Amino acid sequence: MNTSGFTEAVRAVGDWIRSERREFNANHVETKALNSLVSYVDQQAEQMLIERLTSLLPGSGVLGEEGGESWIDGGFNWIIDPLDGTTNFIHDLPPYAVSVALMQGRDLVWAAVYELGQARMFTAERGRGAFCDGRVLDVRHGAPLRDGLVATGFPYHEFSQMPQYLEALQACFRGSRGVRRFGSAATDLAWVADGRFQGFFEHGLAPWDVAAGILLVRESGGLATNFFGTELDDYDLVRCGSITAGNPQSYRDLIQLTSDVFTQP
Ligand code: IPD
Ligand code: CA
Ligand code: CA
Repeated sequence: MNTSGFTEAVRAVGDWIRSERREFNANHVETKALNSLVSYVDQQAEQMLIERLTSLLPGSGVLGEEGGESWIDGGFNWIIDPLDGTTNFIHDLPPYAVSVALMQGRDLVWAAVYELGQARMFTAERGRGAFCDGRVLDVRHGAPLRDGLVATGFPYHEFSQMPQYLEALQACFRGSRGVRRFGSAATDLAWVADGRFQGFFEHGLAPWDVAAGILLVRESGGLATNFFGTELDDYDLVRCGSITAGNPQSYRDLIQLTSDVFTQP
């Protein structure tokens, strides 16, 4: 599969988002649900991605955060978060990213996370590795959790697992170099694949938050599962809502923690 056109489509839309940020103000913001914001930038970026990507791969379907849905069972489907980290974007804080994954049947086969704060393009192709602007990403020998940083997302709209979340957080405070909450799950996962973070866990995520990042982590030699390490295919994994990820050593430490602390749905 020639994927360079996919990467260029993601780059073009990301660059458009960066240019819109220069003129952006709070009048453009709408509230979708509790603490869930959106603007014309998210919506137009999704439309641009859908048009470009489906014309590069005729017959492909889409699952997009801003309503684009035309899933083709068993076919090729794009899973699109046009702007992951919308709250950061609105507050003019990095990071925020375009996150796009391609699923073939029930397998993730291609992914891109274009992080717009540093303008870094992370890509992965199933069985062919993960890259940042052409540099190979390899976390197979990454540090254990106690010598690393953990990324997470704080609960902001669904608070049912708050006690478990706080317990996991406390264990990470004690068992790592520190915890970071940057506000873009796709970027968190890309940065696990890049070895900046050694581990990541978050609850309450949607398919478009995690699909691209899961393939990036996996293709860099790391692991990404639900909180319990359950064997799920990619179709179910992106929909399961909870992700624990890391390089192999840190993942082992973190999965022990999340599977102990959280309760299986
Ligand atoms: C959000 C970001 C954030 C995570 C939230 C997501 P959005 O996506 O990934 O880091 O904590 O759960 O919803 O709404 O900015 O695309
Ligand atoms: Ca998102
Ligand atoms: Ca989004």
